[in-house]
Amino acid sequence: MRKILVTGGCGYIGSHTIVDLLEHGYEVISIDDNSRSSAFSVNGIEKITGKKVKNYKVDLKNFDETQAVFQENTDIAGVIHFAAYKAVGESVAAPLLYFENNLFSLINLLKCVEEFSIPHFVFSSSCTVYGNPDSIPVTEAFPIKKAESPYGATKQMGEEMLTDFTKNGACDAILLRYFNPVGAHPSAILGELPIGKPQNLVPAITQTAIGKLPKMKVFGNDYDTRDGSCIRDYIHVCDIAHAHTLAIQYLENTKNEGPCDIFNLGTGLGVTVLEAIQTFEEVSGVKLNYEIAPRRPGDVIAIYANNDKAVNKLGWQIKYGIKEMMKTAWDWELKLKAEADSVKNN
Ligand code: WQD
Repeated sequence: MRKILVTGGCGYIGSHTIVDLLEHGYEVISIDDNSRSSAFSVNGIEKITGKKVKNYKVDLKNFDETQAVFQENTDIAGVIHFAAYKAVGESVAAPLLYFENNLFSLINLLKCVEEFSIPHFVFSSSCTVYGNPDSIPVTEAFPIKKAESPYGATKQMGEEMLTDFTKNGACDAILLRYFNPVGAHPSAILGELPIGKPQNLVPAITQTAIGKLPKMKVFGNDYDTRDGSCIRDYIHVCDIAHAHTLAIQYLENTKNEGPCDIFNLGTGLGVTVLEAIQTFEEVSGVKLNYEIAPRRPGDVIAIYANNDKAVNKLGWQIKYGIKEMMKTAWDWELKLKAEADSVKNN
């Protein structure tokens, strides 16, 4: 059974990807320092799959501790790298924190990939590298625009580092550019655990609907779009997860055209903020308490993917639509509340 190392395996997309890898016959280990994730995620993974996953609680900025994991696991067939800070606003307030964490972690990891001759590497990138595109939908050939935030800059630099690193044949790599990952595992055993007040739309919706937040803001309804609110390509976290399994298989079967292939992970459909809210209200039966607020600086007006490459080359088939995204996100929020209530009542 081929062993895959997932960094950030206790995080939102990492934990869902581990479930998918296990369900497709891989053995998995994780490196996650749990600074921004819950160590209990591995329990959820075991509940869903019946399989145990060992998480090494290691800070990837510590080279010796990272190297020790590779020394202990000499049969790693591939690495999927999620571990990074990803809050756009925080990165603007603390750029050095983001450059140090996101780039030093990647450099240490690649040093180990080189030292231990790991053949395959999948990198968690983001549509944020496209900035405000000149037209939509965007393909992987679209130009990279100047990053709107230090977070986005670390994703662009990570892509450049991997492009140069793989040129020497050290390993082959795939860069996966996620659009907007949302939703939760259909079992409601795994889902997103935002730290503090949620910055992203869907957790802001579900936390407002459940009563954790009194009201949410729609950042602008005066954009040049069909209803004035921003357009995004929301993609279910389980569809994102399965694309990582397909990416590893693609590399193992040496189907990649070059040493570092790029794929967009989006549905190809644009949804406005107000449409997302309306869909949530329909599937949850909850009337959402929100107000129209001023635009959020740095917001891209409209972006969604051309996903033909991932569909045709990776064989990626999207299973979840916007209704299931909202339904699974709401079921997860309800589950969190039920667990919190049971703790309170015991
Ligand atoms: C979506 C839309 C907001 C919250 C960011 C990163 C991206 C990725 C996903 C990591 C925008 C609006 C939001 C709210 C709102 N991060 N909104 N009220 O900004 O598209 O992408 O998160 O992988 O790299 O850039 O996602 O969910 O923050 O915002 O109106 O309370 O929802 O203005 O139009 P975004 P988002």
